[in-house]
Amino acid sequence: MQSMRRLIRNSKFTRLDALSPQTVIEANGQRFSIEMIADGHSETLSEVQKLFEDIFGAEEIDPEEILRAAVDGKTPWGTNDATKYRVHVVKDQESRVISIVTGGRLDLRNSDRSPSGKQVYMIGYAVTAKNARQCGIAREAYISAIMQVATESEQEGKELLLAGGEATYTSEEFWNSVGWKRVYAERDDAPRLYEEIRYVQPALDYDLATGDVAEGANSKPEHLMLDIFEAPAPDRECLLATVRAFYDWCNCWPREAFETETAYEKHAAHVHYIWNAFKSEVLGTNTLAVLDKKMRAEMQAEGIVIIGHDAADQRCFP
Ligand SMILES: CC(C)(COP(=O)(O)OP(=O)(O)OC[C@H]1O[C@@H](n2cnc3c(N)ncnc32)[C@H](O)[C@@H]1OP(=O)(O)O)[C@@H](O)C(=O)NCCC(=O)NCCS
Repeated sequence: MQSMRRLIRNSKFTRLDALSPQTVIEANGQRFSIEMIADGHSETLSEVQKLFEDIFGAEEIDPEEILRAAVDGKTPWGTNDATKYRVHVVKDQESRVISIVTGGRLDLRNSDRSPSGKQVYMIGYAVTAKNARQCGIAREAYISAIMQVATESEQEGKELLLAGGEATYTSEEFWNSVGWKRVYAERDDAPRLYEEIRYVQPALDYDLATGDVAEGANSKPEHLMLDIFEAPAPDRECLLATVRAFYDWCNCWPREAFETETAYEKHAAHVHYIWNAFKSEVLGTNTLAVLDKKMRAEMQAEGIVIIGHDAADQRCFP
């Protein structure tokens, strides 16, 4: 995987076991360990929860029992989730968790919904404790996460095609540094103009009795960022399959979550509405491009017009 080789080559750390995602990393006499938490009962998950709450605020984060269930591949309603939540942590020499990268490995489906054999790793969160930032720690956790899930994909006879997620504008430079870029459409009728695809995250919480979006849980514009490992940009089918996989995993709840069929149908209609808008936008484009911050600045300096998805520039985390 080209981008992974580049990341490892440019790393500030030596990985003591270069082939294992779970390893000790070392730089300037300092050592850290990278672990994957695969057991929902692990004590480390309480530390993970605490760091999430410290950085994002408790109101933004699901309760600890939901995190634990997700690691075990269970939804909050006790049903099985085909995707286990992967939690990679970096611990310092005192065994304190100082950085976390989480996500899930999702199947990409063809337009008839059959599995394509390709997969995407959707990142949930990346976070580093404030006093450990800008030392390359989150990047090491990310490298381990991708190594891990690429191996799992291969073991299942599948191919991990890309990684991506919804990214705040404040973290764009970090994501650029691991290879992620925002997605733009090049306009045929205006060749020197690129417009960012207007990605919207559907609601993450619903009223279980009615299926309405829960108060304060409205859909949100976000920046979609992707690293397609072996191709310069996604084609439309790949982009649609990726976003559909994101929505299916994060925003569509099982029937068991709702009190009535009507409530279930209502929440599904909400996701479907946002999905249809995204699909129409993507199908209306011809050429897609992925651009990071530096590339955009260089293009703008040459007179190319770049229109951003400014509605997504609302949220930031300290
Ligand atoms: C984003 C975050 C996880 C980065 O963690 P980190 O451990 O500081 O990141 P790293 O040190 O591994 O950074 C890797 C590269 O990105 C760069 N980078 C990281 N954060 C940056 C920032 N805010 N601005 C500019 N560059 C940044 C680093 O300088 C480094 O660059 P290099 O390739 O030249 O060495 C951390 O800042 C954080 O927890 N932010 C708050 C939570 C958040 O917004 N998470 C993302 C959305 S879920």
